[in-house]
Amino acid sequence: MATVHPIVEHTDSFVQRDYSPAAKRALERRPALFINNEWVSSSHRATLIVEDPSTGREVGRIVDASDADVDRAVATARGAFDDGRWSNLPPKVRERTINKLADLIEAHAAEFAELEAIDNGKPVGFATMVDIPGAVDHLRYMAGWASKLGGEVMDPLALPRGTVFSYVAREPVGVAAQIIPWNFPLLMATLKISPALAAGCTLILKPAEQTSLTALRLADFVAEAGFPPGVINVITGNGHTAGARLVKHPGVDKVAFTGSTEVGKIISRNATDSLKRVTLELGGKSPVIVLPDVNVEEVAPAAAGGIFFNSGQICVAGSRLFAHRSIFDRMVEGVTAATAFWKPRPSLDPQAHMGPLVSKEQMDRVMGYIEAGKRDGATVVVGGDAPAANGYYVNPTVLVNVKPSMSVVREEIFGPVLVAQRFDTLDEVAKAANDTSYGLAASIWTKDVSSMLRLAAKIKAGTVWGNCQAVIDPALPFGGFKQSGIGREQGREGIEAYTELKTVIIQL
Ligand code: NAI
Ligand code: MG
Repeated sequence: MATVHPIVEHTDSFVQRDYSPAAKRALERRPALFINNEWVSSSHRATLIVEDPSTGREVGRIVDASDADVDRAVATARGAFDDGRWSNLPPKVRERTINKLADLIEAHAAEFAELEAIDNGKPVGFATMVDIPGAVDHLRYMAGWASKLGGEVMDPLALPRGTVFSYVAREPVGVAAQIIPWNFPLLMATLKISPALAAGCTLILKPAEQTSLTALRLADFVAEAGFPPGVINVITGNGHTAGARLVKHPGVDKVAFTGSTEVGKIISRNATDSLKRVTLELGGKSPVIVLPDVNVEEVAPAAAGGIFFNSGQICVAGSRLFAHRSIFDRMVEGVTAATAFWKPRPSLDPQAHMGPLVSKEQMDRVMGYIEAGKRDGATVVVGGDAPAANGYYVNPTVLVNVKPSMSVVREEIFGPVLVAQRFDTLDEVAKAANDTSYGLAASIWTKDVSSMLRLAAKIKAGTVWGNCQAVIDPALPFGGFKQSGIGREQGREGIEAYTELKTVIIQL
């Protein structure tokens, strides 16, 4: 097969394992789109390369959807919404169908985990423990809401009681376009589709061009789960073409996006022309604040996990460490020692804890930030380089002697790069932690309840963790302050974002 970049011969330490027969079948499939419960060819021949970032090799092809393909998918979803074939079903049938899709993922969990590891580069063990069960949880949690989304009977303020009957009903918003990133492909897919489906919407899902395999495999199970044709449509393709056309399409009522803040702004602008409903879950530069009373032996490895898990490619990555001056050196030593655990390995190695980055583009972006940090005067304590290998590996990196003005401190790197800073007082660290255009998450580590609560109140972020990190649960709302997003996903708010309120007033 063709290679994406020149393959250089290296020692055998980064050799990827052979793929299973099931994974090979998924990779060899003819590029196609899932529309109206059928696999259909694109209107044109354009395809995109599927690459294994552990090796840098091409392993398959997917469709790069054309404008006509996007229009076809939207028309299908529109028709399926407008005739009520899904929204008018008894809620218990919608609930059961969503749960059946979750069952089918569980029944194929090993294959999904392997495909995720091949496509994204994440260690197969983490995909098995985190991504696949998480994907199932999102479906099952939202399935229950299908039968619990009610309206309200309310009396008007200015009319005599008994003269009108007025109520507020909740209706599905309509056709949802859902655009997701590459860092947790299947998890993001089910996180997006589950509230839309539970609310009675129909949808078009566009996975990221780097990681479409598991969304396509998920589509294989849509009809088997019992979804009527046209309810779930999956199209693959580039963001600036297929994604942009979806966002602008007059047949779409709501856009839900997870990805970069830069593209979130473009999507917000494009959706404004037709005043579509928009939910945006964007980037972050989340602070990890460690107070002087902690047990450094426990907290340093946790801080390392907060930045190196998933190669740092997480919106909530704890990328800015603020350690109290009295424990700063020990914290940096502890995180540095923990990097041994996060040494990059090929994704199918059962011993791998950190894989490569998702793509050459992402690796170049991350290495560019590290170089900029060095140029700006930051000191590399550990890492700062890439191992000699054909895949897109970057060694876990810790930078100190950083200044608030440096790009490594201000911008989302989305790689295994931690910047560490000292502080003396709570007020000072709160100010520094909030000195960012982002506001997605933060973690605070202390045994002192009063300091914990005082800091939690000061931090401008959608999620604050105390003595833990990256705990994201389907039942709890998730989203960003400031430029980390608009709206909330998950929990009651997550499904309400797929509804419109209708106030009905009837004179008696
Ligand atoms: P991106 O934001 O460009 O891509 C995310 C999704 O948006 C993909 O499905 C893509 O096809 C789509 N997209 C791109 N341009 C679009 C447009 N004009 N209209 C509609 N859809 C569009 O992210 P990218 O370029 O892959 O990564 C760049 C940076 O974004 C990363 O380094 C990271 O900092 C950040 N990012 C943040 C994520 C998060 O979870 N918050 C996830 C992925 C990336
Ligand atoms: Mg992009």
